[in-house]
Amino acid sequence: MKRYDLRSDTITKPTEEMRKAMYQAEVGDDVYREDPTTTKLEELAAHISGKQKALFVSSGSMGNLISLYINGGRSNEVLTASNSHIIQHEIGSVAAIAGVLPIGIQAPRGILTASDLQGKVKSGSYDMATTTLVEVENTIGGYCYPLQALEGIKDFADTHNLKVHMDGARIFNAQEAMGIPVKTYAKYADTLTFCLSKGLGCPIGSMLCGDEQFINQALTVRKLLGGGMRQTGILAAAGLYALEHHVHRLKDDHQRAKTIALALQESGWADVDMEGVQTNVIFFTVPGFSAGDVIAQLAQKGILANNEGPVVRLVTNLDISAQDTEEICSILSSFKPRKS
Ligand SMILES: Cc1ncc(COP(=O)(O)O)c(C=O)c1O
Repeated sequence: MKRYDLRSDTITKPTEEMRKAMYQAEVGDDVYREDPTTTKLEELAAHISGKQKALFVSSGSMGNLISLYINGGRSNEVLTASNSHIIQHEIGSVAAIAGVLPIGIQAPRGILTASDLQGKVKSGSYDMATTTLVEVENTIGGYCYPLQALEGIKDFADTHNLKVHMDGARIFNAQEAMGIPVKTYAKYADTLTFCLSKGLGCPIGSMLCGDEQFINQALTVRKLLGGGMRQTGILAAAGLYALEHHVHRLKDDHQRAKTIALALQESGWADVDMEGVQTNVIFFTVPGFSAGDVIAQLAQKGILANNEGPVVRLVTNLDISAQDTEEICSILSSFKPRKS
């Protein structure tokens, strides 16, 4: 049986062309800062984000953690959406390693506005943490941050002497969906992480972007966390290839997500969050069935989905073609969940 892996956009394998670029990469010891391909990737990431400098890190989690460590700081607080990745999926490293207390704020789709932050800033007393940072995630659950919300948050942060970190794991999806350049989004954050290993199809790696002073500190914190790696050019070559060839094609993933969401909606058995399908992520529920039950039944038809609490998640990705999309739609249209 053919398998359609829609659990995430992290499951993709490097293409032949990407593997060739990795094979041919010029390399050196990046802990000595002598890897030319990594340097090239870092310069490109700085250019794309409009920040002074960028640093290659092993993962999105590491990029976020380094920023929380430096701009959050021990015994301080970070304000973030309660469904943010740093709260839900980074095993508490924000507190356990960076020593920062995350304050989760409930907001529709996890999109914060300045008014959500009102009254939440603590300026510190002997028994209270000081608020130092706001963290936003773009996209969050596949949903793009409205610029107006980001602008309000940055103004608020500046007024209250807070830094802003943007977890832009999928920021290129936002760029392609909204026609807003990464650089424009990044204007409203002091630091930005973006992932090469999600929709862009790389096997490993994320970029952490910020000003020169921050990136110099980040280099030390990366080493502290065991993240100094040697001949990273092999990985950086994949990143350079992806930034050249895999950004604009994200629109295909978005179109395919819309097509699949529509087929699901029209099947009659699923409640789909149609408005939420802005990029490559689809969420749905099935009345009378748990997410786990639906996922197990879909797997029997070859469709792999992710369990996100009460909802089922599907994510289109580089390994799902137009032909696959048609086949997925036809499976979903003839599928009906059964009670065991
Ligand atoms: C929004 C978001 N941020 C950060 C990460 C962490 O990335 P990594 O898995 O590379 O640590 C993920 C991973 O899925 C993510 O979805």
